[in-house]
Amino acid sequence: MADVSPVATKVAATPPPLALVIFGASGDLTARKILPALAELANRGRLNERFCVIGVARTEWSDEEFQQVALKADATGGSAWAELVGCFRYVPGEYASSETFDRLKQILGEADEKLGTAGNRVYYLATIPEVFALVAEALAKEGCNQPGEGGDFVRLVVEKPYGRDLASALELDAQVHRAFDEQQIFRIDHYLGKETVQNVLALRFANAIFEPIWNRRYVDQVQITVAESIGVEHRGGFYETAGALRDIVQNHVMQVLALTMMEPPTWMDAEHIRDEKVKLLRAIDIPSPDEAVDKAVRGQYSAGVVDHVPVVGYREEDGVDPSSEIETYVALRMHVDNWRWAGVPVYVRTGKRLPARVTEIAMMFHEVPFLAFEGALSRELRPNVLVLRIQPHEGISLHFGAKVPGEAFRVQSVSMDFGYEQAIHETGMDGYTRLLFDAMSGDPTLFIRTDEVEQAWRIVDPYLDAWSEPGGGLHFYNAGTWGPHIASLLLERSGNAWRDPSL
Ligand code: BG6
Repeated sequence: MADVSPVATKVAATPPPLALVIFGASGDLTARKILPALAELANRGRLNERFCVIGVARTEWSDEEFQQVALKADATGGSAWAELVGCFRYVPGEYASSETFDRLKQILGEADEKLGTAGNRVYYLATIPEVFALVAEALAKEGCNQPGEGGDFVRLVVEKPYGRDLASALELDAQVHRAFDEQQIFRIDHYLGKETVQNVLALRFANAIFEPIWNRRYVDQVQITVAESIGVEHRGGFYETAGALRDIVQNHVMQVLALTMMEPPTWMDAEHIRDEKVKLLRAIDIPSPDEAVDKAVRGQYSAGVVDHVPVVGYREEDGVDPSSEIETYVALRMHVDNWRWAGVPVYVRTGKRLPARVTEIAMMFHEVPFLAFEGALSRELRPNVLVLRIQPHEGISLHFGAKVPGEAFRVQSVSMDFGYEQAIHETGMDGYTRLLFDAMSGDPTLFIRTDEVEQAWRIVDPYLDAWSEPGGGLHFYNAGTWGPHIASLLLERSGNAWRDPSL
C-alpha cells in the first residue's frame, strides 16, 4: 500500500522547521484530535526537532495549563511527546484584539530565536466556524500572513464546516482569500486522511482489472453508505446548526464519491487529482428544489435501542431544541451525467443512530443477461457487488455466484474478502495525523480546493432550499433501525433496494 499511495514516494521523514499555531486551543477538537495526532507524530519521530506549538484561545490558561492538556492528549505516554510539550506556549485573548496578535508575534519571534522554527508558520483554525474569517483577516491585518524573518512559508489549515451553503461558502472564501492565497489554504476533510479512502485510488489505478468494468456498461448502480450507531453525543448545539446533509454529505460523501467515480488523473499529484474530482462533481446533476423533494429523504431519530441499549430520541439530546426539525439521516438518489456514468443511479445514505457503524462504497453490477438455472436453484444468487469497506473491517469484498456442492446445480452468492489488518501488517497513520503531517510538509493532495467546496455546495443547496419550509418533509425513524421506511421508495421505483451492509 505504501508504494502506491499518491504522495508516498516523495514524503520526507519530517516536515521542515516551523511553529504551529492552533486557534481554538482550549476546545474539544484540539484535545480530541489535533494534540493526539501531534503526539503520534512526535512519538514516531516524524516531527522536526525545530518545532513548537502555540495555542491561542479565549480561555484564560497559562502555558503550563496548556502543556498539561497536551500531555494528557497522549494516551500512550510516549517520552518524545512528554519532552516536547515543555516548550508549548499559550496566548489567551480575543480573536479580534490586536493585543492577542502582539503577544502571538512576540512568542513566534522567541520560538524562531530559541527553538529555530525559522520563520515558518502553520496556523490551524480549530475554532467555531463563525470566527474563521475573523481570524484569517486578523492574521493578515497583523502581518502574520507573511513568514517571519528568513522563513519560507505560512499556511492556513481550516476545519469544516466551510460555509453553511453556497452563498456563505463563497463569502467565507472571499474573506479568507483577501488574507491568504489559495496555495496557502489547506481545507481539511478527515475522510481524505483515511487509508482506505486513499486506497480507492490504488484499487482503481494500480490494477488493470477494475477500470475496464468501471462504467455504465457493467455497473448497474452505486450505493454509498456512511452509517453511525452513535447519536449526536455532546455536540447537540453544533448539530442543531448543521444536520446530516451539511455534516456528512457535502464533504465526506462528495469526496468519497468523487474519488470513486472520477476519470483517471494524468498524474497522482495534488492538482491532477483535484482537477478530476472537480470535473466529476461538476457532472453531478443539480436538481431544482422541486426535483430535490423527489430525490431525497430526510429523517430524524426517535428513541430506540442501539446495541441492546435503550437510547433517547434526537429531540431529547442535550443542547437540542425539543421541537427541532434538523435531520440526522439523509438518503439521496443522484446521477453523474457524463459519458461513463449516464443512467447509473448513485444512492447515498448517511445517518446517526443506525444499527451499525459502517462506511462503504458498493459498486453493484448488472445481472447476468440470462440465468440458465431453474428459479428454485438460483434463488440465493445476487448480482455481483464489489464493496470497498472504508470502516470498520477496512478492506474489499467481491460478491459472486458459486455452486453449492451436491448433485443439483444450485448456485448462491459467496464473497472473496481482502482485509487490511490480515493482509498488510504495516500500520498507517490516523487520518488527522496524516493530514497534519501533510499540511506541515506542504502537500495539498489530501485537502479540498476552493472549486471542490463550491461545487459540493452547489449540489446540496437545492436540498437545503427544498427542506427550508417548516416540516420540510422530515420523517422519523427509531434509533437502531436503518432510517425512515420511506427511504426505500427512492430505490424501489427503479426496482432496486438498499444493500444490507452485513452481507
Ligand atoms: C465528522 C462529523 O466530520 O465525522 C461527525 O462532524 C461524524 O458528526 C464524524 O460523527 C464521522 O467520522 P468517522 O471518522 O467516525 O467516520
